[in-house]
Amino acid sequence: MTILNVVTEPADVLLAKAKPVKKFDKKLHTLLDNMYETMVESEGVGIAAPQVNESIQAVIVLLNVDSEDEEDERLELINPEIVEFSVDTNIDLEGCLSIPEKFGDVERSNGVRVEFQDRFGDTYKLEAYNYDARIIQHEIDHLNGVLFTTKAVKMYTDEEMAEMYGEEE
Ligand code: CO
Repeated sequence: MTILNVVTEPADVLLAKAKPVKKFDKKLHTLLDNMYETMVESEGVGIAAPQVNESIQAVIVLLNVDSEDEEDERLELINPEIVEFSVDTNIDLEGCLSIPEKFGDVERSNGVRVEFQDRFGDTYKLEAYNYDARIIQHEIDHLNGVLFTTKAVKMYTDEEMAEMYGEEE
């Protein structure tokens, strides 16, 4: 497997609408495996194909990252569509591998219902809540060329981050 180069702002590919995946072939599988490796290496909890310069509708998210009891779970979403957003929302801190060292508060729906395909083209539906739902919304935004910085209700300065979370080790 290969660690891919993560595209950072500013880049046109981060602002483009990604194309649907039509071929569920070895090339896609290799890309997904490499995206996963790249996400883990970068200590991310999600990654979208445009972030590795592939403008196609594929994302990987880690589920259960905020749970102490449940193992993290890798989930691949191909051609995902959020078909329902909960009315209830929450505001929480986000960052992005493509926008290094910037953090901000983003309002997201508490829950989402998503239709998607897996790497073999089979279709699924999923309901996700809270932090899982937040990551899914953030990653699917990437497929529409939307970055969290354009949605943030507040961005934090380095000083504010250091005050909230302590200095870098
Ligand atoms: Co991101």
